Amino acid sequence: MQHKTVKDYIRTIPDFPHEGIMFRDVTTLFADPRGMRLTIDQMLAPYVGMQIDKVVGLEARGFILGGAVAHQLSVGFVPVRKAGKLPGSVISQDYELEYGTATVELHQDAIKAGEKILVVDDLLATGGTAEAGIKLIERLGGDIVSCAFIVDLPELGGRKRLEAMGYDVKTLCD
Ligand code: PRP
Ligand code: ADE
Repeated sequence: MQHKTVKDYIRTIPDFPHEGIMFRDVTTLFADPRGMRLTIDQMLAPYVGMQIDKVVGLEARGFILGGAVAHQLSVGFVPVRKAGKLPGSVISQDYELEYGTATVELHQDAIKAGEKILVVDDLLATGGTAEAGIKLIERLGGDIVSCAFIVDLPELGGRKRLEAMGYDVKTLCD
């Protein structure tokens, strides 16, 4: 029997959170011990031996992945959070989602100018969330090494958008 791939562990829930959205649910992937290890190992592999100072995870599923990746790379983890969640002085960035608009924030002192940053999230759709995170990081002088996701939804154009801006994008499946 063939081993399951990362994609095989992801569940699709139609019409969540709105009608017409096919929600790619990675909780089934995270819940499986082999799925979780496979995902972290594959996300991490391209960056082993590269200079990375911090992993930035995008709320919320980017925290789960980013924490594990940061641990494996032996670097610090920094969260980009939805507005109003971070307790210290923050910078804010508005963005548009596949379904709605939102604001993300980053602690002002979380990144130092010149630090090499790996951005991590579960899924790339329009790229709006990732671009907002990148803008925050760059406003603090961080240098984006790469952006890593489990899933790319190519029809929503996020990869093209980020690559057109000159960023390296790595994904494990479409
Ligand atoms: C999802 C996903 C990404 C974002 C991708 O998060 O985890 O962060 O959408 O969409 P985009 O490329 O069009 O910006 P969501 O906004 O559902 O937030 P959550 O993880 O806090 O539930
Ligand atoms: N974020 C934006 N679009 C999504 C989708 N289709 N599934 C899961 N997360 C998403």
